[in-house]
Amino acid sequence: GDGTALSGKTVVITAGPTREPIDPVRYISNHSSGKMGYALAAAARQSGARVVLISGPVTLAPPAGVEVRHVMTAEDMLREASGAVDEGCDLFIATAAVADYRPETCAGDKIKKSSEALSLPLVRNPDTLATIAGRADAPFTVGFAAETSNVARYATDKLQRKKLNMIVANDVSAPGLGFNSENNAVTVFWPGGQESIGPDTKTSIARRLIAMIAERL
Ligand code: PMT
Repeated sequence: GDGTALSGKTVVITAGPTREPIDPVRYISNHSSGKMGYALAAAARQSGARVVLISGPVTLAPPAGVEVRHVMTAEDMLREASGAVDEGCDLFIATAAVADYRPETCAGDKIKKSSEALSLPLVRNPDTLATIAGRADAPFTVGFAAETSNVARYATDKLQRKKLNMIVANDVSAPGLGFNSENNAVTVFWPGGQESIGPDTKTSIARRLIAMIAERL
C-alpha cells in the first residue's frame, strides 16, 4: 500500500487471549499469542489509520504509533471495545481468542486439593464481536473464525449469524499455523465472495487483509 488507504479512519482491533480467574492463582485461557492482532494493528497504522488495540495478556511490544489498552477477562474486553467504539470507529477487527466460558465465581482463597474429583461450574461470557456488529451504529466489522474442521461452513455461518461484513477463517489444527506461531493461512469470506491468503507470515497476511478491507470500506 501507499500508506494512505486508511487515512482519516479509526480502527479498533482486539488481540490475544483472555484470562478467566478460577481463584487468586489460577485461570482459564488459551494459546493465543496476540501476534495476528498485533500484525493487523501495525498494518492498519502503516495504512494511515488511527489504531486502538484492545489487548489481552501477551508479551508483545506495542506496534509503533498504536494506542494499546490492556484487558484481562472477556468482560473487560467487551467494556473496553465498546468504549473505544463509542469514541468513534470506522472499522472493528476481532482477532482476540476470547474465552467463551468463565468460572461462575472466582474463589476468594486458593482452592485446596482433596482426594475428591472437582467440578467447576462455567457460565457463558459476553461476545464482543456480536455485540459490536449488532449495534445500530456498527462500524465495518471483521471477525475471525478459529476452527479445526468444516472451516468454510462454520465461518460462513458465523458471517451471517453475527451480521459481519467479513470473516477471516483459519484452520487452527494445521501444524505450524494459527495459534502462537509466526505464520498463518486464512480464507476470507464476505457476502458474495472469498479469497485464500498464505501460508505466509502473519505480517504479510495482515497487510493483504488490510488492503482487502480498505477496498470495501
Ligand atoms: O494470537 P495468535 O497466536 O497470533 O493466534 C491468532 C488466532 C488463531 C487467535 C487468530 O487468528 C484467530 O483465529 N482469532 C479468533 C479466535 C477465536 O476465538 O475464534 P472463535 O471462532 O472462537 O470466535 C469467532 C469470533 O468472535 C472471533 O473474531 C472472536 O474474536 C470473536 N469473539 C468470540 C467470543 C467472544 N466471547 N467474543 C468475541 O469477540
